[in-house]
Parts: sequence; structure tokens; C-alpha cells
Amino acid sequence: MNIIKTRKDFPLLDRKKPIIYFDNSCMTLRPRQVIDKIVEYYERFPTCHGRSVHTLSNFVTQEFDDARRIIQKFINAKDKEIVFTKNCTEAINVVANGLDLNKGDVVINSDREHSSNIVPWLKLQKDKGIKRIYIKSKKDESFDLKAYEDELKKNKGKVKLVSMVYISNLDGYIMPVKQIIKLAHKYKAPVLLDAAQAVPHIAINVKRLDVDFLTFSGHKMCGPNGVGVLYGKKTLLEKLNSFIVGGDTVSNTTYKDYEEMPVPERFEAGLQNYAAVMGLGAACKYLKKIGMNNIEKHVAKLDDRLKSDLQTIPRVKLIGNKETHAGVTTFVIDGINYHDAAMILDSANIAVRSGQHCVHSWFNDRKISGSIRASLYFYNTEDEVKQFIIAVKKLASYL
Ligand code: ALA
Repeated sequence: MNIIKTRKDFPLLDRKKPIIYFDNSCMTLRPRQVIDKIVEYYERFPTCHGRSVHTLSNFVTQEFDDARRIIQKFINAKDKEIVFTKNCTEAINVVANGLDLNKGDVVINSDREHSSNIVPWLKLQKDKGIKRIYIKSKKDESFDLKAYEDELKKNKGKVKLVSMVYISNLDGYIMPVKQIIKLAHKYKAPVLLDAAQAVPHIAINVKRLDVDFLTFSGHKMCGPNGVGVLYGKKTLLEKLNSFIVGGDTVSNTTYKDYEEMPVPERFEAGLQNYAAVMGLGAACKYLKKIGMNNIEKHVAKLDDRLKSDLQTIPRVKLIGNKETHAGVTTFVIDGINYHDAAMILDSANIAVRSGQHCVHSWFNDRKISGSIRASLYFYNTEDEVKQFIIAVKKLASYL
């Protein structure tokens, strides 16, 4: 990977004094290739997909279907297994509301889920009496496979879904998803992986993983906002009830009834965000060209350096699991408020996130009010990590 050349693709990095952008777990930057694709839609064929028969609309249909195929191939899914949603959160909601869960049914989470993979289940717990179980991490904040299997055993026949994060946006911990899936299947439970942080960082092969559902968002992988994906094995998507319905989810209506479209269309209600879908297709193409293995290796190397250097700074304490290096490092500085720290870093031209990173439950349980998070991507450099470390050292020495 030629990082100097790659950085030129990103308008925000192609400047004399570019920002040090370490908030990639929230949202990545976009290369010109993706921006151009979005602009192309609005400039050349800003019309509808699959409805009208004029030339412009046919063009949209072609581009939209091409994008779906590119995204499908990116995770090695089959035809009819990719559903477009607004984002990862909506994708999880499509499953949560489509499974027809009832009183006594069990859903298992980890204890480090983003709100998007807790709230839909807590709501079903309140509304319908399902039981949400979460698996407490071990002392080193790694996943407790034994405790997990114990719960699967204890709730045999009742577990209707295991819904877990793949790579945590809290600390970059990579969950042992292969074992998680294998064990779930042993107890006849399907698995959903919230792969919002995983799809941007590692090569995903849904068939090799044998995962049942997998969700992700465009904006964390160089794609546009407002588009996400629900992957589901076709047979399982076909069994899901529809969630949001209306235009485009039906092939016909009468005053009394309606005929649903097959999957995936019956989950894609209303006009789609065509430009965003096309932009996401362009993002997948772009990431493929960079190479997912290159991305994984480059980020791991930087993250390794960042974690070890941070730990040498007095008063800095890393939180979460420290062993996996998927580009997310979260820490506190004793005596400095995390938001103040982020604002001081911002004044040094460094963007990080501060707070609880939408994983409030994990922080609340550990009585940590917030933290500073540096999250990396393939366009970040060793020099940026060095500058970051210098800035944090300066910050920690204010006391
Ligand atoms: N999940 C996003 C983050 O971690 C919002 O920042």
C-alpha cells in the first residue's frame, strides 16, 4: 500500500497541514472515488430505480443493481441476501422486529454492545417479555466462552438469537466469533453479528463464517452516510416478518389486502438512497483495491505502537481489552476530564472521540464516566501516531 498516494485520494488529507483524524470508529473519511460516485448520481441520472422505463431510470436500475452485486461480493454473500437499510442500527431493528419473538424467548448479547445492539432487545423485553441475557467479560475484558456455553445450555430451546458485536467500538476487541457461531449452532440458535467495525477492517466471508445475519454501515468504511446493510441467509430472510412496509415492498394492493415482494425488496420500503448505495458500492471497490489484508496489517502495526507508547505515559490508563489491535484505543488520563482532553487535542489539530462511545452500559457497569478514544484507519501514518503521543504527553504533564 502506497500511503502517500492513498492519502491524496482524501480531500481532507490532501492539504498542507492535514488534520490528524483519529475518529474513524465514529465515521471514516471518504475518498474522491466515493464522492464522485455520489455526485455522478445527482448530476447525471437523479431519478428512480426499477419503476419508470425511461433511459435515466434504467441507468439508475443498472447502477443500483451493480452496487448491490459489488457489496454482496465484498462479503461473499449470494444473490438476494443483501438488504439495504439506513444504517447498521436499522438493520438490527429489521431482525429484532422480524423474528416474531414472544414472552420467554431468549436473546444473548455480550456485555460490550453498542446501544444499537442492546436497545432493540431491551425494548422487546419491556414490550413482549423476552429475556435478554448478556455474557460478562472475563477479568482481562475478553469474551467468556465458558459462561456463554453455560447460558446456551441453560436456555436450550429458548435461545432465538445470539446477537453479538464482532469488533468492539469500545476498545477494538475482536470477539471469538467462529467459536461463538459454532456453539450457537450446536444449540440450534442463529447468530447475528454487528460488524459495523469489522467490515471496514478485516476481510469478511459470511459463508466461511457461517453467520446467519450480519449488519454494517456505509459511513464507517469510506462510504456515505445513510446507507447500511443487513446480510441474511436467504432462507432466514424469507422467514423474517416485514418491519417497515409500504411503497416498493409490495407487488400489488387492493383496498383490502397486499401482495409482498420477495426478499430483499420486501424489507426495502420507499425510495432508496440511490446515491448512497452507489457510493457504498464505490467504497467496497476502493477498499478491495487497497486490499483488506493490507488494511488489517497497517492498522494493527499503528495500533500496536499507539497502545505501547500510551502505556509509558504517566497517569494514562488504557481501558478495555489490550490484546487485540483492530485500531481502537481507549484511555483515561488521571485528573483530566475526557471532553477537556479531546478539546485540547482538537486545538492541536487532532480529532478523537470522548465520552462513552454509545457503549454506556459497559461504562456505567464499571463506573467509568467517560474516556478518550483514538481510532485508526489505513490512511493514518506512523508520524501521526508520534505526533499524537507527543500531544498526549504534553496534556498529561499539565498536572
Ligand atoms: N458507533 C460510533 C462510535 O463508536 C458512533 O463512535
